Amino acid sequence: MLFTEVFLNLVARQDFAFRWLRDRSLVHGRAAHLMDFNRRELRTNNYRFCSGHQARYTLAQEAHMPDPAHRAGLEGVIVADTRLSEVDGERGRLVIAGSDVEKLAGNVSFEELAHRLWSLYLPESSPDRLQKNLGEARVRAFALIPGLGNALDARDGMDALRAAVAHLQAPDSVWESTVLVTAATAVFTAAWAAKLHGRQPTPPDSSLGHAADLLRMATGDASPVKAKGLEAYLVVVSDHGMNASTFAARVIASTGSDLVSAVVGAIGALKGPLHGGAPGPVLEMLDNIGQPDRAIQWLEAEINAGRRIMGMGHRIYRVRDPRAAVLEQAVMRLERSGIETPRLKLARAVEEAAEGLLRKRHPDRPLNANVEFYAAVLLDALGFPRALFSSLFACGRVVGWCAHVAEQRATGRLIRPESRYIGPRPAPA
Ligand code: COA
Repeated sequence: MLFTEVFLNLVARQDFAFRWLRDRSLVHGRAAHLMDFNRRELRTNNYRFCSGHQARYTLAQEAHMPDPAHRAGLEGVIVADTRLSEVDGERGRLVIAGSDVEKLAGNVSFEELAHRLWSLYLPESSPDRLQKNLGEARVRAFALIPGLGNALDARDGMDALRAAVAHLQAPDSVWESTVLVTAATAVFTAAWAAKLHGRQPTPPDSSLGHAADLLRMATGDASPVKAKGLEAYLVVVSDHGMNASTFAARVIASTGSDLVSAVVGAIGALKGPLHGGAPGPVLEMLDNIGQPDRAIQWLEAEINAGRRIMGMGHRIYRVRDPRAAVLEQAVMRLERSGIETPRLKLARAVEEAAEGLLRKRHPDRPLNANVEFYAAVLLDALGFPRALFSSLFACGRVVGWCAHVAEQRATGRLIRPESRYIGPRPAPA
């Protein structure tokens, strides 16, 4: 026992020692990679904070559990088979419903994309009728606004959206629920935006496409170029493997609960800054930096203070998130159409500086721009206030949530993992 205790204490210190060496650039290349891999494996298996009594305790627990392996944050764990999307983190490739994201953005309408995802599990979906279905559902959702109580008074847009969607009564038909919850997410997001600016919510125009109507209701702007920009954004964020909010939705659906409950849970998961809450802070960061030549100094101070750079890094991608490139191109398309994109130049300089600094700090762990980085620049150029960014993410991702809920239902299997108890046990009698 003494030997293992000493060993575990050494391991815990190795983590500290590794960081110390790495931060001073004293360990590089393959050696750094190997050391970091070992450190992560051990950390993942919960040894990181083991010492003294605790270490003994963990070992005692393991004696009762022959297979203790688990992964912190479920990193690398496959929890479902899906036909909806595939994230290849090594190559930086995202496939949604059989197509590369680069082919979808700017070429496929929101309705077409929704149909491609939904029709895999919901045979009622029809490409010809979906625009009409969604338009009519937006009108129905708008009529519900007076019955939402004070939901839309919330100061945070995601709190408002979560509370408003929670008011929906899920229709018996899964298909009707899917269309209603998708339409309502856009209508309630736009209604909260109207309140933010002290105006009455704008009623939907059911003859418009979903993206164009969302833009019009939320900003009062009906520019077709901007509508295309928003549509590209909604398509790009529609689905992304087993991300945290999708997993939350699938867990809820797996219990046999309804779609509205699953979407409400997913909105709660999306709100966090490590998931869909990042684009607002990205814009704040750009504002704080102000000038390209101040980027390095500002970012260095943040990293030294132990804070994360918003819009950088990803659990899966080990190269630049392909969605960042697609959204950057969408911003460039706006620019070419004469729409001002005030933060594009600064964003590029900040991305380059952040990449360089993070590469130095974490030579073993590539940390590049993620989807949120250019989502912030695009949504800002489209005229949306930053307080609305996360809710707009929900307006796109709701399509994926609904598809995953349908897929999960088709498996009929409850998601119920296990935990490993590391607390005290009653003393033997
Ligand atoms: N800025 C600075 N350091 C970062 C970082 C960032 N954006 N992202 C990760 N790191 C560092 C971590 O501090 C950690 O360092 P350590 O080994 O010294 O402890 C190391 O990189 C590995 O990070 P880890 O916590 O294992 O990554 P993860 O897979 O859990 O995190 C994110 C992924 C997205 C949560 C993370 O990159 C992050 O917080 N990014 C900023 C928020 C953001 O943009 N979210 C939107 C995601 S689409």
